[in-house]
Amino acid sequence: MNFQLDQDHQMIRQMAREFAQKEIAPRAADLDERSQFPNENVKKMAELGFQGMMVPQDFGGAGLDTLSYVLVLEEISAACASTAVTMSVNNSLFLGPIFKHGTEAQKKKYLPDFAAGKKLGAYALSEPGSGSDAAALKTTATKKGNKYLLNGAKNFITNGPHADAMIIFATLDPAKKHKGVTAFIVEKEFKGFSVGKIEKKLGIRASSTSSVILDNCEVPEANRLGQEGEGFTIAMVTLDSGRIGIATQALGIGRAALDFAAKYATEREAFGQPIAKFQSIQNKLADMATQIDAARLLTWRAAVLKDQRQNFTKEAAMAKLFASEAANFAAKEAVQILGGYGYIREYPVERYFRDAKITEIYEGTSEIQRLVIAREVLKEISQ
Ligand code: CAA
Repeated sequence: MNFQLDQDHQMIRQMAREFAQKEIAPRAADLDERSQFPNENVKKMAELGFQGMMVPQDFGGAGLDTLSYVLVLEEISAACASTAVTMSVNNSLFLGPIFKHGTEAQKKKYLPDFAAGKKLGAYALSEPGSGSDAAALKTTATKKGNKYLLNGAKNFITNGPHADAMIIFATLDPAKKHKGVTAFIVEKEFKGFSVGKIEKKLGIRASSTSSVILDNCEVPEANRLGQEGEGFTIAMVTLDSGRIGIATQALGIGRAALDFAAKYATEREAFGQPIAKFQSIQNKLADMATQIDAARLLTWRAAVLKDQRQNFTKEAAMAKLFASEAANFAAKEAVQILGGYGYIREYPVERYFRDAKITEIYEGTSEIQRLVIAREVLKEISQ
């Protein structure tokens, strides 16, 4: 086992770090303050191939592996968590399922523009009445000729107001529970599609989140993703990958909090010496660093397993669970190390503190990650 990144991965990481620190980090506070969607960042990331990192070059993507994606996403997340989730949703939750489950025609139609960053994608599973219990969704799909009519509402959709198309999950027959769920690629121009309420959030305020309304939304049969009734499996498989992205986002936020707090501790003096000399501060830095390192190892392992085409459901859930809790711990400790300065907007740690929280909620709460992990553990011992 080798814990060193190879030269290509080191170069990707270095390039992403320089880009993120130069182009993304300087505007993060302002975008957050104004809840302004990071259009300019998305454009610049697209120029570097970051919007379609794992899509093969034949389809207009960068053709890189999941580990490369994770290395880049950590750097973007450390600079601006809002920009990071915008990138992550397009890569993992929109392009991922189309590449994995789409027909050749769907791949040709959707992958190139969305991978090149000319268009933006989203993923709509949650509803006002179903979040963790995803199979309880109520949005219906009714076949009519060579179309489906979708009716219902989707909630908390990242990129919702800015997305050109999204993967929407609906049921053909609620009585069939998860076996009725079917996935569709829905374009914003489709008749009956509209963006609903735009949410004001605690953190990741520069990312956009909205509900989506489907009022007899007309979806051509050619836009069904996978077979009828396959949608729930597609949703779950997609979330396995998505959770690697959110683990990485958390990792980036936690690392940024540690870096800032450690530097501050060497500069801030109290009782006649830098506060970094006090063991109470050193203990915090040690615990933050250890948790962040462990989160990185778990996240990289999940990414490598995915690249090796091995099962990574449990490992992705572990990575997301641990990294999101580590990020919240690190951000909380960073605020404490900065004291009053940690609580005001002049310093970035209050943003890290607010941004970290969502990583324990979206793409499956910590409670759902524990459920997924426990089910896999029990499955393993019964084999
Ligand atoms: N891979 C493949 N198949 C899977 C799977 C996986 N990871 N997980 C479940 N399945 C399959 C099961 O094998 C089963 O298939 P069969 O019927 O053929 O046997 C089927 O799916 C049903 O599985 P379960 O019985 O386990 O389903 P459940 O109802 O108990 O729910 C759950 C499982 C894990 C709790 C699931 O509902 C879940 O993950 N909930 C959280 C949803 C979530 O993360 N939502 C976030 C949405 S995205 C977002 O946050 C917004 C955004 O814009 C970023």
